[in-house]
Order: sequence, then structure tokens, then C-alpha cells
Amino acid sequence: MFVRRIAVVGTGYVGLTTGACLASLGHRVVCADVDVVKVARLRAGQVDILEPGLTELVGEGQAAGRLRFTHDLTDAVADAEVVFLCLPTPMGAGGAADLSAVESVARDLRRVLPYGTVVVCKSTVPVGTSQRVAALLGREDVAVVSNPEFLREGSAVRDFLHPDRIVVGSDSPQAAERVAALFAKLGAPTVLMDAASAEMVKYAANCFLAMKLSYVNAVAELCELVGADVSSVTDGMGYDRRIGQSFLQPGPGWGGSCLPKDTHAMVRIAESVGVDFALVKATIDTNHRQQRRVVDKVRDAVGGTLAGARVGILGLAFKAGTNDLRDSPALAVAELLAFEGAELVAYDPEIREPLVGMTVVDDAYSAVRDADAVVLLTEWPEFRTLDWARVAGLMNGVLVLDTRNHLDDDALHRAGLLREGLGRRL
Ligand code: UGA
Repeated sequence: MFVRRIAVVGTGYVGLTTGACLASLGHRVVCADVDVVKVARLRAGQVDILEPGLTELVGEGQAAGRLRFTHDLTDAVADAEVVFLCLPTPMGAGGAADLSAVESVARDLRRVLPYGTVVVCKSTVPVGTSQRVAALLGREDVAVVSNPEFLREGSAVRDFLHPDRIVVGSDSPQAAERVAALFAKLGAPTVLMDAASAEMVKYAANCFLAMKLSYVNAVAELCELVGADVSSVTDGMGYDRRIGQSFLQPGPGWGGSCLPKDTHAMVRIAESVGVDFALVKATIDTNHRQQRRVVDKVRDAVGGTLAGARVGILGLAFKAGTNDLRDSPALAVAELLAFEGAELVAYDPEIREPLVGMTVVDDAYSAVRDADAVVLLTEWPEFRTLDWARVAGLMNGVLVLDTRNHLDDDALHRAGLLREGLGRRL
């Protein structure tokens, strides 16, 4: 394998995972970030994001001299053969992706990139961004490649080292081959294509995943009304290899830093070429409807009005295994509950910061104390093993709304509690 000199710009969960994993494959990697405090912490081996295996890889890479951190972009790229852009592309005006970070770094790189470098866009960017980056770089000798990431938060290292596929797109086949070779050791199927197609793959995949979830949430609602059980239904569906078993778990709606932003961006991309992408719009609407449905269920549980009702919330992160609150469906549900006057007490094993509209407490039992109803919104394993008799003794009401179908019916029943899941006969 060729050992390459690589720079990674941006040390969020994508950039840091990319840098640390490429170093673990033997490459020499320098990661750059404008946040000097973060850089100092990373140099000391301190990783602030919750990603299993990442702290270890950061430590090992630095100890082996293959991984270095700097806040100086010029220093980072000084002898780089390949530069990865792993910058945030948040939802901007009207739902389109905000490319200002990518564009500003591309401008800065123009003067400092060594001759013949390949620049790789790993951030999720609308179709045409690679071309735009190439124009901002304005360098004939520098090729731009799109290499979208498919990392899930909470399993990013695993997903990087054991990918289902690697997508590399460029209008320069030579540059694409060079980037694909960096991952050769992983032995994953590698799909080479043009840059626009690679950029589209990411949006098409994330929107499909969101659509799958909205679909299953809508099926869950029907199951409740026709007397079917969604777990049996998805089990029966999932054996069809064209559908697959995964990503079929109903919940309080999908969230996180990716699916909401990418679905909105896809709608804007379609509009920009005169297409009304009704299917993706319906996917987004169904997601909001799901959050409102959860609120309706809590309202019913407390006797028809939320004003003055005390609701215990279990879980705030957008999914278990992360400490990320960005676009968390739990927060969206909490906001709707608070808007109707509910008094909220919440517990999440990874969230301690104070939040508007609720009291955040340090343990599950404090969250359920005097609650008229309890709603589980994130599927943390520790919620399965709560002492339900103790919970029942602390609660004022008896209903536990389990929006992740995560809890053991019998355990709650034995404690005298009423568990309501999603997608089962009412
Ligand atoms: C998502 C994609 O899964 C990754 O492939 C992609 O690389 C990433 O976005 C990205 O664009 O960077 P992530 O946002 O980490 O990854 O989270 P997911 O595991 O996809 O979960 C998204 C949401 O769907 C969460 O709120 C989760 O609770 C919900 N979900 C997921 C369900 O409600 N049911 C399921 O069966 C699965």
C-alpha cells in the first residue's frame, strides 16, 4: 500500500473519524480546525464526541507519529498529497445547504496547496459543489473529488473501517483512482463515477432512509387503527431482501444532524431544476405529523389537556449512543408539550446541560417523580432495566408511552404500569 500524506480540514465527527481512521490504515495525517481549544484538547488525546473507538485511535495515531493536529491551515496542507474537506454544511436560508464554510476554506487553500494536490469533498454538498470548489481553487494542477461519507453517529469508526461501499466521484478519473487507493486496505466495493453522481448518491441515500422511516411510522399508525402489530409487520416485510430488516423501527420521528438537513436540501435541489419532489416533501411532513401524534398520545394519557400536567421524559438525544441534540425528535416533542402547558422533567444519560422549557435531572427516577405520564423518546439500553416497581411508586399516573417500542411489556405490567408502544392495537 502507498502511504500518503493527507490533510483533513474540520474535526467534527466526520473529519476526526476520517483523520484517525486514515492514520490507522498507515497514512500520515494532519487534521486542521479553526477551534484552537479543540485542537489543544485533541493534542492531549481528549475527544469530546461520543464515538466508540475514536479516543483510542486518536491516541494511537499520535503516539505512532502518524496523526497530528493544528489550527493552521497552511501548516496542515504544507506537504499534503490529498486534502479532505470535512466541514459543516448546515441548513441555510430556505432549507438549502449553507456552503459558506466549504467556500471560505476553498478560497484560503488556493494559494497554499502544493502542486498537484487532490482536494476531496467529504461534506454533504449539493450537486455542482465540486465544480464550484474547483472554480474557487482556480488551479489547473489541483483536481477535485467527491467522496461522500456514510457514517452513522455513534458507530462512525466501525462504519469507516467496515463500509458497505466507497463512492468516489470525479471528472478526473486519475484523481478518483488516487483517492480510491487510500481505502484499498478496507477491501470494500468501490464505485467510481463522475462528481455530480457522487454528490447525488449521498442525498438520494439519506432521503431514501428518511422515506423508509416515515413510511414505517405511517404504517405503525395504521396498525394501531386496524388492530395489527407493527413489529410483526416489519418482521414479515424485512425478510424480503429488496426491503431488508434494518431501518424499520418506528419512533418519535427521525432527527439528527443529517437526515432533516439533507431532506430539506434535496427538496431545494429539485426546485432549483424545476421539479416538485413531492415524495421527499411528504416524508418530511409525515415526520412532523409523527411528533404531533406522540403529543396527542401524551395528552390523551393525562386526561385530555396538557396544561399543568407533569410529564417525565426519558431520553433527549436524537438516538441512543450519542450526546447529540441537533434536530432531536425528543426536543421537538418536548417543545410541543411545553407549548401546551405541560411541566417537563427530563433525564438522558448523556445530557446534563440545562434546556429551555424543561428541568433536566441526573437520574431516571427523579424524572418520573410525580409524573402524570412518562414518555420514552430515546432508546437507551439502561431504560430497559429500570426498577419499574420503584417508578410506579414514584409516578402520579400509570401510563408509560414507549415511542421506541423498547421496553418489556410484562415488566411494566407486573409493576402495575400501563405501557403503550407505537403501532399496536389500541
Ligand atoms: C445518517 C445515515 O444513517 C448515515 O448513513 C449518514 O452517513 C449520516 O446520516 C450522514 O449523513 O452523515 P445518523 O444521522 O448518524 O446517520 O443517524 P441514523 O442512525 O441514520 O438515525 C437517524 C434517525 O432515524 C434517528 O433519529 C434515529 O433514531 C431514527 N431511526 C433510525 C428510527 O427512528 N428508526 C430506525 O429504525 C432507525
